[in-house]
Amino acid sequence: MGLSGLLYFASLLVAFTYASQLLKRDQSVVSGSLGTDEYWNDYDGGLNNYTQYDGNGSIGEGWPSALSWGSFNDLWVANQHIISRSCSQVYGTPNNSDQEIQDLYNSIKQVAHETRVDKRFILAAILQETKGCVRAKTTTSSDGIKNPGLLQSFKGNHSCNDDGEVQNPCPQDQILGMISDGVAGTGSEQGFAININAQADVDGIEFAQAYYRAARLYNSGAIDSSGDLGKGSATHCYSSDIANRLLGWTDSASTCTLDD
Ligand SMILES: *[C@@H]1O[C@H](CO)[C@@H](O)[C@H](O)[C@H]1NC(C)=O
Ligand SMILES: *[C@@H]1O[C@H](CO)[C@@H](O)[C@H](O)[C@H]1NC(C)=O
Ligand SMILES: *[C@@H]1O[C@H](CO)[C@@H](O)[C@H](O)[C@H]1NC(C)=O
Ligand SMILES: *[C@@H]1O[C@H](CO)[C@@H](O)[C@H](O)[C@H]1NC(C)=O
Repeated sequence: MGLSGLLYFASLLVAFTYASQLLKRDQSVVSGSLGTDEYWNDYDGGLNNYTQYDGNGSIGEGWPSALSWGSFNDLWVANQHIISRSCSQVYGTPNNSDQEIQDLYNSIKQVAHETRVDKRFILAAILQETKGCVRAKTTTSSDGIKNPGLLQSFKGNHSCNDDGEVQNPCPQDQILGMISDGVAGTGSEQGFAININAQADVDGIEFAQAYYRAARLYNSGAIDSSGDLGKGSATHCYSSDIANRLLGWTDSASTCTLDD
């Protein structure tokens, strides 16, 4: 053993002695900021901050390409703190249970598989609409159309909180149905899949841009003739919010001023 080997051995010995002293303190839970709480430790991507995107959703106008979207698993993990408490915080109903969160995860994957809509986008849309609360309340638009469920779908017929009828637990078939109503659609006109398909005819359409445009359509039913996704009716920040969610934005303050 050379000198450096000896030094290495000696430092290992020191480290071992030190570690066993630490172990003797026998505290089975790490306290304070040196510990970590569940969700963040297998998360390795995304930025929880907000950039306002203006314009037509293209890379040329500064919008993020799908290559910079987070992975599904990273986005899922990063949003667990929202999904696990949104029912109580936003809807005054019991929080999603672990089983309901598992059903949500499985249902997003199943509907993505069936419709070929990117599962990251489905997750972003669910967060945008209801923060992932399975007991999100049905809303009724000004023209009297019901928008129930996780995706506040157009004329959907799945919900675990319809007219004050709160279901707890929320059955798996309702969770799947709420997502399917929003993505596959309930008739021939509405749903993300239909909105994305419609983008194939747009000259020079990019993958991510098709999704940002579909988001605008889902929220307001039309895209402004200028192509600007921040214009038109309904929530002007909607497409920009979706883009941010796909990059990892979760709960930091939005800096979008389009709806001010
Ligand atoms: C987002 O946050 C990161 C890390 O705090 C920071 O480096 C980056 O500049 C921020 N980006 C924007 C657009 O605010
Ligand atoms: C979006 O804007 C870019 C850059 O201004 C332009 O080249 C492109 O044709 C526009 N695409 C659509 C679909 O409006
Ligand atoms: C919902 O979950 C959050 C986070 O775990 C918790 O702080 C809150 O008390 C829960 N609310 C209810 C009504 O259980
Ligand atoms: C839900 O809506 C779809 C599409 O309009 C329809 O085919 C289906 O029969 C409805 N289901 C129920 C239980 O009403």
